[in-house]
Amino acid sequence: MREIRFDRFGGPEVLTLHHDAPRPEPGPEEVLVQVAYVGLNPLDFKIREGSSARAEGLDLPAGTGREMMGVVIGAGSELDEAELSSRGVAPGTRVFGMRSPSDDRGVAAEVIAIDAEDLAPIPDEVSEQDLPRWAGLALAGLTAIATVQDTAQIREGHTVLVHGGSGGVGQLLIPMALEAGAAQVWATGREANAERIRDLGATPIPYDATDWTAELQRATGGRGVDVVLDTHYHSTFLPSLDQIAEDGLIVTLPTLADLSPATERGLRARIPRILPGRDRLDRLVQGIRAGRYPLEVSQVLPMDRIDRAHELLADGHTRGKLVLDITS
Ligand SMILES: NC(=O)c1ccc[n+]([C@@H]2O[C@H](COP(=O)([O-])OP(=O)(O)OC[C@H]3O[C@@H](n4cnc5c(N)ncnc54)[C@H](OP(=O)(O)O)[C@@H]3O)[C@@H](O)[C@H]2O)c1
Repeated sequence: MREIRFDRFGGPEVLTLHHDAPRPEPGPEEVLVQVAYVGLNPLDFKIREGSSARAEGLDLPAGTGREMMGVVIGAGSELDEAELSSRGVAPGTRVFGMRSPSDDRGVAAEVIAIDAEDLAPIPDEVSEQDLPRWAGLALAGLTAIATVQDTAQIREGHTVLVHGGSGGVGQLLIPMALEAGAAQVWATGREANAERIRDLGATPIPYDATDWTAELQRATGGRGVDVVLDTHYHSTFLPSLDQIAEDGLIVTLPTLADLSPATERGLRARIPRILPGRDRLDRLVQGIRAGRYPLEVSQVLPMDRIDRAHELLADGHTRGKLVLDITS
């Protein structure tokens, strides 16, 4: 079967498409999935280049990719037909999901073995054309739940600033913050993405056309916001510290972010941690079905363009999700 692997840390060129990789055997509690699409994330290039904490201790050669959608084609010894049916992942079911944080294996392969708990069924009404979006839903979605609900604990009436409102996670942070009761959400992004940000329900602040700090100060009457959700970090974290209202907090997403400039000033700053779980995947399903999470896929690339996909990820201006087509 075809599988993308890398045997050393480095640039996108270390990613190699193998045509004769062995098919995995499922563990007792795992299912086998024929993968159709893989959702790509900045974490993928950070692991590949060795800069992510997750790269430490990773056995090379390693696979790439954390989230996907596909069809269940088999199962391990502990999962009989009744068990698979009760979990909604019987053979033939279309499923989506992500590797749990403790599972280092990649997903960019024609067939993967994955813990049945890390998957949820895709509703029958979803069309074939819409499937790439489901491949990119789990990681961004579980991150957005962890950010809005567990870490920022956004409540009725909060004012919120999202940095990177049209990115993969940003496109879910905006609707989830509104769903949690946020009174108003502002979101930064390039001017080219302003309309998208507005469609998601936030007030866009184009950082490439205006001074976003001045704009936010004007919009909040100098008060700042209760919560900053910072998906970018590099050039946004420090200036955001002057935009936090009293008793407010900043949640920044990159896991290696240095929070000390905030904590030294007595400000609350946190990094979210994904909590896997079927209940959370099911919540994403409900949100998509109800039209509340209109996550967008901006590009679908074939498997042999994984190097180009990683260049785009590292560029840091992805709109919605980038997806890899495992069937082409
Ligand atoms: N803690 C966790 O568990 C966790 C989980 C998932 C992701 N993450 C991290 O969260 C970050 C975001 O992930 P993602 O998947 O959303 O990335 P992404 O899809 O690549 O989105 C990046 C976003 O950043 C925006 N951006 C770039 N420069 C900016 C600037 N100067 N000011 C404001 N926005 C700017 C881009 O908007 P424009 O194109 O408009 O510039 C784009 O919307 C990554 O670092 C990722 O590794 C952490």
